[in-house]
Amino acid sequence: MTIRLTESATLHPLLLPAGADAAPTDEIRAYADVRNRSLFETTGRDDDALSAAALLPVLYSSRASRKRQWFVMDAGEMVGCMAVDILQDASADTAIAVIALLRSHWRQGIGTAALAVLEAELRAVGVRTLLSWAEHHGDQTNSLHAPTGFGAVPRDSTAEFLADRGFALEQVERASELVWSAETPTRLTRSLSVAQEHARDYRVVQWVLPTPLEFVDGYAWMKSRMSTDVPDAELGTPEEVWDAERVAELEQRQAAKGFTIQVTAAEHIASGELCAFNELAINLGEPAGTTHQYDTLVLAGHRGHRLGTLVKTAGLLGWRDRYPLSPRVITYNAEENRPMLSINEAIGFAPISYEGAWKKELA
Ligand SMILES: CC(C)(COP(=O)(O)OP(=O)(O)OC[C@H]1O[C@@H](n2cnc3c(N)ncnc32)[C@H](O)[C@@H]1OP(=O)(O)O)[C@@H](O)C(=O)NCCC(=O)NCCS
Repeated sequence: MTIRLTESATLHPLLLPAGADAAPTDEIRAYADVRNRSLFETTGRDDDALSAAALLPVLYSSRASRKRQWFVMDAGEMVGCMAVDILQDASADTAIAVIALLRSHWRQGIGTAALAVLEAELRAVGVRTLLSWAEHHGDQTNSLHAPTGFGAVPRDSTAEFLADRGFALEQVERASELVWSAETPTRLTRSLSVAQEHARDYRVVQWVLPTPLEFVDGYAWMKSRMSTDVPDAELGTPEEVWDAERVAELEQRQAAKGFTIQVTAAEHIASGELCAFNELAINLGEPAGTTHQYDTLVLAGHRGHRLGTLVKTAGLLGWRDRYPLSPRVITYNAEENRPMLSINEAIGFAPISYEGAWKKELA
């Protein structure tokens, strides 16, 4: 089905081949290419670029998320993409979307028309809240401040686009990077031993996905708390329910994508409860590429024992043994999450950019 967006641009649903292990079609290859190029044009980084083969497995819906994608054609060329995830937790009325066009095709009304199509589809299936994350660049003197009171983003063209179309900036996230240097191991080892002195009731356990059976339930519980125990501003992201099946689904998806994840957790020795964790991930095909720090969390009831520092430093030291060629680690944190930012800054992370988390209520 073709949907006309402007005089020359059209929108098309992306068709996925049956079975996640199918080879990417030419259309999927073009989609991955346009996604990567527009990401690079916006951020100046290729940290989140994915080959078509790596991207394809994460385009399919799962139990946790119903996904759909579209692409934009103009004069016979693919010039943009649009993707939405309808979160299936709680009442399944929240979706996360992104529209990304090649810069050569901005300011022609394509984004506005594509967003209108998306919103109509989402309303029809009962979605009430639309969220979008975007990296913003430009003049910091003309910034938009987060209502949390922490952080601001430059009022760039993407911010103008979202604000003018009914989205409200709810939260600012800081992207930070740790560039591995000769001093990093010493700094990490020192922080780890200080943390261990404060956390005598806990021990570190570490594994690479798939999760050993003994840790599956504890890991699932901690994953679920990522949706309740972190600063969420007024985004209203739904509480997630995790079980062994959802953990297995995550593991299969990451494996199909060609990624590996190391989990470093703190176990409360007396009870055996897992109460803090840190995830580090890399594309197995690019061991000299960027490391991504995914979730880090200390369960609310176990804060104040330096467990955040414990799992982060033990995680990074273990990771360095596994992937010594990866030169840098990237992480994202809410700008109001001072405890986590302080831990990162002490380890050597420095800010590289800011993202806005935007929300629109669909009437
Ligand atoms: C956000 C994006 C999809 C907008 O698509 P688009 O086709 O350029 O948007 P439209 O032409 O429909 O609307 C342009 C609007 O964006 C804003 N805008 C665009 N360029 C601008 C500029 N240089 N200065 C100020 N505002 C600008 C304005 O609100 C403008 O509306 P106007 O033309 O009525 O003044 C596109 O810029 C993009 O791909 N950005 C990178 C990806 C991204 O960050 N996406 C996240 C948002 S979902």
